[in-house]
Amino acid sequence: MPLRGESGKLLPLLAQKGFDIVFVDGNHSYEAVLKDLSNSAPLVAEDGILCGDDLEIQIDEMDPVFNKENIDRDFVKDPKTERFYHPGVTVAVGEFFGCKLSTWEGFWAMRKTSSGWAQVDLPAAQRYQVPSHLADSLLKITGAMIEHMRVRNFIS
Ligand SMILES: C[S@@+](CC[C@H](N)C(=O)[O-])C[C@H]1O[C@@H](n2cnc3c(N)ncnc32)[C@H](O)[C@@H]1O
Repeated sequence: MPLRGESGKLLPLLAQKGFDIVFVDGNHSYEAVLKDLSNSAPLVAEDGILCGDDLEIQIDEMDPVFNKENIDRDFVKDPKTERFYHPGVTVAVGEFFGCKLSTWEGFWAMRKTSSGWAQVDLPAAQRYQVPSHLADSLLKITGAMIEHMRVRNFIS
């Protein structure tokens, strides 16, 4: 049943332990992610999954000084790993779980167990052979998106 609204208002209305999977993919700021996680975690049933998007690097991998200076930016390049990441997501998710998460290219997931949160094992994804004409189009679109984000100063 689609419910449209602000997560901070809607999530507390939902049934505690009533969901097998909760996917968090909203505002990327540190405070917002922490709030979404705090509101989402009680909704997950035991053995269920709490997961989300945009965790490109984990809290123990980032440059802490750079991260502190850039915590209010959406998407930046970490000088230590030279990877683009969402500082608010990295810190909020890292602090919330307090351990290494299972991740797949930005997608993260943790399983709720009787003794806390545990990493999730997934079988390796099969590589899908993208037809060359689609791959070329995807490359063009991605290049245009990156250029757009650079011009708008979302990334440097
Ligand atoms: C990163 S996008 C992801 C959208 C979608 N999950 C997808 O993959 O296409 C984040 C979305 O969450 C919405 N959003 C941000 N803060 C929110 C909040 N507090 N409550 C509900 N939605 C929010 C934004 O408007 C935006 O549409």
